[in-house]
Amino acid sequence: MKHWFILLAVLSLLAVRLASPGHDNPPESAPIVAPADVASVFERSCYDCHSHRTEWPWYSHVPPVSWFVGNHVKEGREHLNFSTWGEMSEGNRLHAVMEIVEEVEKGEMPLSGYVKLHTDAALSEPDIALIRGWAGAEGVAPGVETEDHAH
Ligand code: HEC
Repeated sequence: MKHWFILLAVLSLLAVRLASPGHDNPPESAPIVAPADVASVFERSCYDCHSHRTEWPWYSHVPPVSWFVGNHVKEGREHLNFSTWGEMSEGNRLHAVMEIVEEVEKGEMPLSGYVKLHTDAALSEPDIALIRGWAGAEGVAPGVETEDHAH
């Protein structure tokens, strides 16, 4: 019986070695500049998947969790990246602001599976109101569709 545990431990260590590449945090080239209260909501709820400041807990290195966590972060960063925010064109930035409001109002972001593990990432009504206010200040009025803009 005992040797199974040893074999399992060795395999897990190997798997961790294999799974870890890609779980990185590149430098933040052009981080978003936002009022502190808004920025802290994004940092709390979105940064693990939409920035280069991902916190990688131990279990994020262990397969099979590592595979889908890695994919979520990779995909999340591709869609929206607060660490390269300043590199977007004006049009793309407005589009991103609009999509952020849309996703949080529909309750689609942060991803529900993530919120189950990170309950502090859940957005309250005041959090969403803050994001809405920020969007207004960024020039995105509520209900305005910018869907036609190039992405
Ligand atoms: C657990 C990871 C995770 C967290 C946390 C998370 N997202 Fe996402 N997000 C993703 C992934 C993966 C995608 C791309 C696939 C999709 O749209 O479901 C995405 C896509 C998006 C998009 C683009 C939608 C589109 O149609 O292109 C926006 C906007 C967004 N997220 C906003 C947010 C905001 C705002 C927060 C925080 C309040 C947040 N997300 C938290 C993983 C995450």
